[in-house]
Amino acid sequence: MPVLPATTETIDRAAALLRAGAVVAFPTETVYGLGACAFDATAVARIFEIKKRPEFDPLIVHVDGDAMLEAVVASIPGSARALMTRFWPGPLTLVLKKTERVPAIVTAGLDTVAVRMPAHPIARALLDRVQLPLAAPSANPFGYLSPTRAEHVERMLDDRVDLIVDGGATVHGVESTILLLEPKPTLLRHGAIPVEEIEGVIGPVARELSDETKPLAPGRLPQHYAPSKPIRIVNDLNAVPLEERRDAALLAFSSAVDGYAATRTLSPSGDLREAAARLFESLHELDRESVTRIDAEEVPNEGIGVAIMDRLRRASHR
Ligand code: TXA
Ligand code: MG
Repeated sequence: MPVLPATTETIDRAAALLRAGAVVAFPTETVYGLGACAFDATAVARIFEIKKRPEFDPLIVHVDGDAMLEAVVASIPGSARALMTRFWPGPLTLVLKKTERVPAIVTAGLDTVAVRMPAHPIARALLDRVQLPLAAPSANPFGYLSPTRAEHVERMLDDRVDLIVDGGATVHGVESTILLLEPKPTLLRHGAIPVEEIEGVIGPVARELSDETKPLAPGRLPQHYAPSKPIRIVNDLNAVPLEERRDAALLAFSSAVDGYAATRTLSPSGDLREAAARLFESLHELDRESVTRIDAEEVPNEGIGVAIMDRLRRASHR
């Protein structure tokens, strides 16, 4: 059973596992997180697989200081600085422009990243030991209650995680408040910090998405995920006539076919996790090719393949 009390040895072990691409559950002051190194796309894909999320939802990246923050965030507006000074470390998540280093799977293809500095001593010790930012959603299967104790994680995720660091009950028991800052401060999720306290620092915060902020909030506008080129889902690549391949790009699962203007293969070995990790990057790349359409091959509709297919279907709707 991978549940260990949060001793120094456990934190060392968790850090070594995380650096090697493992998925580790750990306490934060809000809820337990299911963490992986934010720069490791394949490890992050495992988070989605373990949570059985039917779609890719962007994850929150946890940092423990300026160096880590600057590795994930490209620019920090003054209002964000003011909020960090007042509420960090703590349960406030800010959505800011991401750097190139953050893989697309972490942000579900968006050019922004949600970031926070947790206050929990164990989360901080872990970040300090790993020396890399950690992407971590709540450590529960999709649609279940968020875990506030290691036992909850154990009961729900059991042997699917590599290690559960037991730090007792969390403090807040609800997730962090999420705030979008640009083009204007907008609340994306109510959470442990009341929005009125945030307004005390930066002034009025919109409670609802407006036309200018809507496209920046994932999950509410499914077509936002879509590339600019139309996507067609293809079941049998060999059945696509040659003349339909010439001006199109191909996103193949494990083996491509000839004749397309551009091709990306998600996982030559047929590994769904690797395919998930490369999905968004590949779509971004193919979208930049001078083609009129992207043909996406169906992947097996099992495990994390369900999330891949969900994304492809959303992307193909227009
Ligand atoms: O308290 C918490 O925030 C916990 C602990 C573990 O830190 N984490 C958490 O993560 O609740 P998660 O993955 O369950 O919440 C992520 C949510 C997404 O569903 C989305 O609403 C928002 O954060 N989000 C993430 N990235 C975003 C982005 N780039 N733009 C807008 N919203 C984003
Ligand atoms: Mg959650």
